[in-house]
Order: sequence, then structure tokens, then C-alpha cells
Amino acid sequence: MNKSIINVLNGKSDEKPIWFLRQSGRHIPEYFEIRSKANNFIDFCLNKNLIVESTKLPLKYYRLDAAIIFSDILMIPWAMKRNLKFVENHGPVLTPMDPNETYIEKKINIFQLLNPISDAIHTLKKELPNNISLIGFAGAPWTLACYMIEGKGSKDFIKTRKAVWQSKKWFSELIETLIIYISQKLELQAKAGADVLMIFDSWSHMIPNTFFDDYGIKPTAKIIKILRSKNIQQPIIGFPFKAGSSLIKYSYESNVDCIALDWSVNLDWALSNLNKNIVFQGNLDPASLIPEKSTYLEENVTFILNKMKNRRFIFNVGHGLTPECKIHNVRRVISIVKNFR
Ligand code: CP3
Repeated sequence: MNKSIINVLNGKSDEKPIWFLRQSGRHIPEYFEIRSKANNFIDFCLNKNLIVESTKLPLKYYRLDAAIIFSDILMIPWAMKRNLKFVENHGPVLTPMDPNETYIEKKINIFQLLNPISDAIHTLKKELPNNISLIGFAGAPWTLACYMIEGKGSKDFIKTRKAVWQSKKWFSELIETLIIYISQKLELQAKAGADVLMIFDSWSHMIPNTFFDDYGIKPTAKIIKILRSKNIQQPIIGFPFKAGSSLIKYSYESNVDCIALDWSVNLDWALSNLNKNIVFQGNLDPASLIPEKSTYLEENVTFILNKMKNRRFIFNVGHGLTPECKIHNVRRVISIVKNFR
């Protein structure tokens, strides 16, 4: 199999493949056309043909080594009947969960509810070129709990942090339930043919340090244990966004095969402190792709590549591309990475 990302993750190659977090989305004008074919964002994420179309969209523009299945981490809270809506120019809104009081849904069938993802993967496997890895993903339990308790995005997720101190029993039950559903969503994607799985802990920097082990590391390790027990062997990328010094323990104990490094991580620090057996991904600041003329871009991309010369590494941004990112900047980055010697 000639998929460079898989080869790097399995230790069989020292190439530097490239893909981008949120590579499909509003920075590509055609995305709006695809989105307008569905009534709302959730219907979009449940429409097999639209999933296929939006997963393939970035490949029309960029010479990438991976496609990420178009979906959203919040499709699990949707399946758990949390009344998810994506409000235009506002982001996700859900019915907030009240610690101790709100019933935690334990009887849903993820395989059935998210079946269009499986159908889309079957089609993508037939249509994608052989060298492109297909990446499936899910949100991490902590990050999903944040949205479910807060009912929306937040700058400090204070209600969620309060819930941890107030109702550890209820909160742990929520996390344990999410572990099951997240494992099932990943299993569904792996069994349908995803080559790599990624776990997004976008709000891991909101975990009070005392609980980082319980709510950041152990849940990820449990998810991976469940998957491996079902003979799912795909490599797993973890993304504990802005976890700082907690990345050290995460790198040794979460059992991920690769850590996606956010744009705040110092690469020298990462090279000397994190588990040497783990592949790195990421680190370019997506904001560097916003200016019409991004003056420091070449230097920064080359800087990252030089630091990662002797490390198994997948080039990527350190967080998702934003709608303001410029297509010509993304193309420049790809060309620098592909021509780097
Ligand atoms: O190419 C891809 O990566 C697309 C697939 C993808 C989406 N969301 C589609 C999406 C992925 C991997 C995600 C993950 C996701 N979703 C995360 C983790 C990564 C991160 O950014 O930290 C999070 C936290 C979410 C939750 C979410 N979804 C929010 C907060 C929002 C609104 C804010 C925003 O960026 O618009 C979304 C909506 C969303 N998910 C969009 C896309 C393309 C934009 C919807 C639109 O207006 O068309």
C-alpha cells in the first residue's frame, strides 16, 4: 500500500506527508454550494452524497496526502438527543445538561444513527486515489462534555469545570458513556475503511490539572483499548489542544500513535520531552495563512521541517483552517513541503 501517511505512522517511511485540519470548509468558495444542498448543517453531515462531495473537495485544490471524512465532533451529542443546532454566524447550540439532574442517554444506536458516514466511506474508498489516506475522527469525551454541559462554545467552560467539582459521580458517568459512543463512532469508520483515526480534544486546556489524568488521558487510553480489543488496528492521532506540560504524560500513557501539536508548542521542547516513539503532526499557525502576503510563511514552514528532519512527522496546521485562510497560501505551504530536501 503506497499511502505515505500510513507508512510514516507505521514507522516504514521518513517522508513528510501533508494534510490540513479543517481542510474542507468555508475557505473554499465551492463549499457553500455543497452546503446549500442541505437544509441545515446536521442534515449535511447525514447526507451520504454530500459527505463524499465535501470530503473530496479540498483534493480538487490541493496536492494532499489525506482526506478527512466530512462530519462534526458534535454528531455524538446530536445522536444523544441534546437538541443540537448550528446557528448561522454563532456556532453550535445544545440544551445544556444540568449536573446530577439531566438524564444521560444510554440507549442509542450509534451505528444506525450515523450509518450515512459508513456509506460515504464505502464510496470514498472506491473513488479516492490509492495514495490518499482517509481519516476518520471523533471528539474526545472531555470536549464533548464541555459542549453538552455548557450548551454552546465558551471561552472558559466554567459550568463544565464547576460540574467536575460539584458532581464527580455524574460527570464520570457522562465521560464513561461518551467513551462508549466515541469508540463506536470510531469503530464504524474503521470498519467501513478509514485508514487512520483522530481524536480531537479541542478543549483539553480547560481540564483542571488535578483531573487531566482522569478526563484527558485515561478516557483516550480506554477508547484505544476498546478499539484494539475489537481488532481495529488503524493508527490513532490524538489532538490534546493547548495541553502544555500535560502533553508529556499524554504522550506516554494515552497510547496514541501520533500527537497533533498545536501552534503554541515549542518544537525543541516537544523533541526533548515527549515520548520518542510517537509520531508528531502539526504546529503551523493557521493564522499564517490569512494575510494576502504572508511574509514569514516560507521561513516558518522551513523551520518546522528542519526541526522535524529526524522525526517521523506529518505536516499540518496546529488548529483548523479558518474561513479567512487563503487558497494561495495553502498551496505555497504544500509546495514548500513537497520540495523540501
Ligand atoms: O475538513 C475538515 O476537517 C472538516 C470536518 C470537520 C468539521 N468539524 C466540519 C465543520 C471536523 C474535523 C470538525 C471538528 C470539530 N467540530 C471540532 C474539533 C476541531 C477544532 O476545531 O478544535 C470542534 C470543536 C467542532 C465543533 C464545531 N463545529 C464548532 C465550534 C463549529 C462552529 C464554529 C465554526 O468553525 O464554524 C462547527 C461547525 C463546523 N464543523 C463547520 C465545519 C466545516 C462550519 C459550518 C458552516 O458554517 O458551514
